[in-house]
Amino acid sequence: MRRASRRRCSVCARIPSGAAGAPPLDRAQFPILERRVGRDGDRPLVYLDSAATSLVPLRVTDALTAFLHTSCANIHRGAHTLAEEATDAYERSREHLAAFLHVDDPARLLFTHGATESLNLAARCWAEEALAPGDVVAVAEDNHHANIVCWQMLAARRGLEIAWIPLQADGMLDYGAWCRIAERGPKLVALAQQSNVIGWEQPALAAILADASRSGVVVALDGAQAAGHRPVDLGEMPADFYAVSAHKMLGVTGVGALACSSRVLERMRPALGGGGMVERVDRAGFVPAAAPQGFEPGTPAIAAAMAWDAALAMLEEAGMAALERHVGALASRAQRGLSAMAGVQVVGGAQRASGSLVGFAVADVHPHDVSALLDARGVLVRAGHHCARPLHAALGFPASVRASFAGYSTDEDVDALLSAVERIVEEGV
Ligand code: ALA
Repeated sequence: MRRASRRRCSVCARIPSGAAGAPPLDRAQFPILERRVGRDGDRPLVYLDSAATSLVPLRVTDALTAFLHTSCANIHRGAHTLAEEATDAYERSREHLAAFLHVDDPARLLFTHGATESLNLAARCWAEEALAPGDVVAVAEDNHHANIVCWQMLAARRGLEIAWIPLQADGMLDYGAWCRIAERGPKLVALAQQSNVIGWEQPALAAILADASRSGVVVALDGAQAAGHRPVDLGEMPADFYAVSAHKMLGVTGVGALACSSRVLERMRPALGGGGMVERVDRAGFVPAAAPQGFEPGTPAIAAAMAWDAALAMLEEAGMAALERHVGALASRAQRGLSAMAGVQVVGGAQRASGSLVGFAVADVHPHDVSALLDARGVLVRAGHHCARPLHAALGFPASVRASFAGYSTDEDVDALLSAVERIVEEGV
């Protein structure tokens, strides 16, 4: 069969190579990568949307199938063999995730339905109780809506003040503005460990975390874009709430987690009630179960949580430091290549090495059109505001295109992106 060929990109030859080399994750584990797509249906799939959701390896789907075929049961209810096996598998996964994130007590790790629900739980279960009208909540402008809207909703309900930590024109959080907010005694600061649009880590992040820790400000850190690509040590990092989603870490959709520090967990009250979360219920009322069960009402995403265990094992075997180096090399090369093209603007600029993704815009071509043209060539990216409208507004981009990488991505994927974008720059829509 004749296969569509890819043109060599002129920028690929000019940028310093910095090749990432062999992917740390075995591509044979991801059968979807064998698909052929594009306008003619015969382009190799170049999947550059791992920040939206990572691909799922055979190892995870095998674990999921084996569980559903052998130990399918509800958890923390029945006393029969399958119920006990299912409960053990679910709790093993919690223990594994706790070890992966360096949370010393698995009871401080609540399973949720994703990072968005995790951050909403922080607002509903802790802040709703602990904050009072007039209290200040600082919100960084590079956050995903998940770590913005829950605080805005809470502010409206409880009469809180939202103080923005603004982004400067160069894409950096304004540390001076944070210092001025800090003088007013904020009760909480909401931060992204890695923005889902700007590729690099905020230089001010470590200093803001350290300041918050020193002054007792509670930190809600969105780790959704970081935890699948780099080592995370919550024993070291002063985050009272840390939110992750399994589906950005080789797991399946429908499960996430919220890691809570002891000091916030003590003050948290369940926001959702029902079966499985109570110690006792009678006509007079109820007594919630202790964490984590008290915060996991109803039947949770048992199979998805159980499959996360296999995803974590695969990440660990590849090595989180190796994954970080690999995705960083790919994203930085993409960033350098794109910023070298006339008519292409990288969101946040290219002055810092990228972590796992790059956001960009092509002059005179709407990001949705860029995405459609790339899609026709087999290159799959995300386009739009990426649930980060304040970030786009601050940096003067109505929307952007985003290419994001994972441990199975390759140097050839970067070349395919650069070559396809170069064609769009030359030819337009
Ligand atoms: N939060 C995901 C993204 O940035 C969906 O694409």
